[in-house]
Amino acid sequence: MRVKTRIVKVDPLGREESLLIPCAEVLRRGGLVAFPTETVYGLGANALMSEAVSRIFQAKGRPQDNPLIVHVSRPESVAPLVRDIPQGAVRLMEAFWPGPLTLLFAKSDLVPDVVTAGLHTVAIRMPDHPVAQRLIDLAGVPVAAPSANLSGKPSPTTFEATLADLEGRVDVIVDGGPADIGVESTVLDISGPVPRILRPGGLSPEELRKFLGEVEVAADTPHQGPPPSPGMKYRHYAPRGHVYLAVGSPKEQAESIGFHAARHVILGEKVLILASSENAPEYAPLAGRWPDRLSVLDLGPRDDLPRVASRLFAGLRYADETGAGVILAESFPEHGLGHAIQNRLRKASGGRTLRPAERAEMNILLVCTGNTCRSPMAEALLRAIWQVECSEIHLNAWSRGTSASDGMPATPEALKAMAARGLDLSGHRATTVSEEDLSQADVVITMTEGHKDSLTRRYPAHAGKVVTLAAASGGALPGDVSDPFGHSQDAYDRTAQDLDTGLRAFCERIKRVI
Ligand code: TXA
Ligand code: MG
Repeated sequence: MRVKTRIVKVDPLGREESLLIPCAEVLRRGGLVAFPTETVYGLGANALMSEAVSRIFQAKGRPQDNPLIVHVSRPESVAPLVRDIPQGAVRLMEAFWPGPLTLLFAKSDLVPDVVTAGLHTVAIRMPDHPVAQRLIDLAGVPVAAPSANLSGKPSPTTFEATLADLEGRVDVIVDGGPADIGVESTVLDISGPVPRILRPGGLSPEELRKFLGEVEVAADTPHQGPPPSPGMKYRHYAPRGHVYLAVGSPKEQAESIGFHAARHVILGEKVLILASSENAPEYAPLAGRWPDRLSVLDLGPRDDLPRVASRLFAGLRYADETGAGVILAESFPEHGLGHAIQNRLRKASGGRTLRPAERAEMNILLVCTGNTCRSPMAEALLRAIWQVECSEIHLNAWSRGTSASDGMPATPEALKAMAARGLDLSGHRATTVSEEDLSQADVVITMTEGHKDSLTRRYPAHAGKVVTLAAASGGALPGDVSDPFGHSQDAYDRTAQDLDTGLRAFCERIKRVI
């Protein structure tokens, strides 16, 4: 259901109480109000009203089993919401509230089950933002508020990003300027013998350790059992394109990102590189060569992680604005805010990484129908051309058919066409393509549009890797490679010539970027 969203622009220091009073009234009566905090924008509802809280889940499209954080404007507001306040929590609240630290407590009956998704614990924090504090104070009720994004998207750090996600879905959006920290609060569980960070965030493990001694950080993706924090199991922070996270030294990252950026551009993708300031100049030549296909966003210096954190979500959102199908992100040092930065990048990438060694090899799969003429010839030709043109990179090339009779040798005409070029196909046996083949390949080159369609329909997860030889040749080959099967030797020789033209142009294009 669409609602009319009122926009209220306020002074970021929260001094315009007269503007905040009506917003607080909307909250208190069960409406939805998005507002700035020091971490990210939040989408708030009266935490004591089940129906109001249910509307949060609807507005965000959030899974019902992911509990919300309750926000208070003063520490005294915690007591009615919890069974007790352990001494450890009192000390943490004194030290770090208001601020980006969310604490888990055993919940009291006052907190509706919908807030905690049926858990016996409730997560509470006191935000360090004058607008959030005034608003909650004026509402006079605790405010349940997840980040103000549509579920699965990066959290909004600006009013504009909040508006883009929630216009028509909430009653009010309070514009209080950009959020300062840029990543969400640290969620801490102190119920066990060793305090445990369930979600790294704006307060670093190092700062908590100074205060608490030993502190564990829960793994990004728990391997077994229920996730300690339900939100950790969902795909998160993800733009529409695929995110790849580079690993290794800064130099290795620049190399692998440069190489893969070029490869994806050649395959026809739009690419965004999320770079450190140190490495950003390395990518400038690529951006200069393909200004409309490749862009670079400087997230900030490796030694200024607060700056990187504050730009991270805007960077991931920018990917959607540019329409990038591929986002190649650098890794940042994992200390201080780097824990939260890397956690969000790993989530956004869904585990896709670029390893340093990947630069040195390329896995190319060639596909036709029966895997007895065109693709085996293409495989042999590619190996031969590659040796001359691109010898710095190790090539793994193999061929498959979309519907092959497994075990068939290449046709005698194909053998002959290749023998004329000094290439031997006698050992080749036809094999039907499998999902395994596509996952191993960096690039899948098909002989026709039809083969491409068939592969992308069968294996949509790998669609981004599949390209026709015509496209891979950058237009040197004007269209489909025709099937010589059942035709004369002449037809085979012409097909071999077409393959040669297309593959040579492809290798030329690869060579220019390595
Ligand atoms: O900085 C923040 O924390 C922002 C601003 C708006 O305050 N809020 C925020 O909320 O990030 P949300 O809903 O996007 O993330 C809350 C996280 C989720 O991972 C959720 O699973 C976890 O906190 N959480 C909430 N209640 C919990 C509980 N009782 N036990 C364990 N985890 C809980
Ligand atoms: Mg969130």
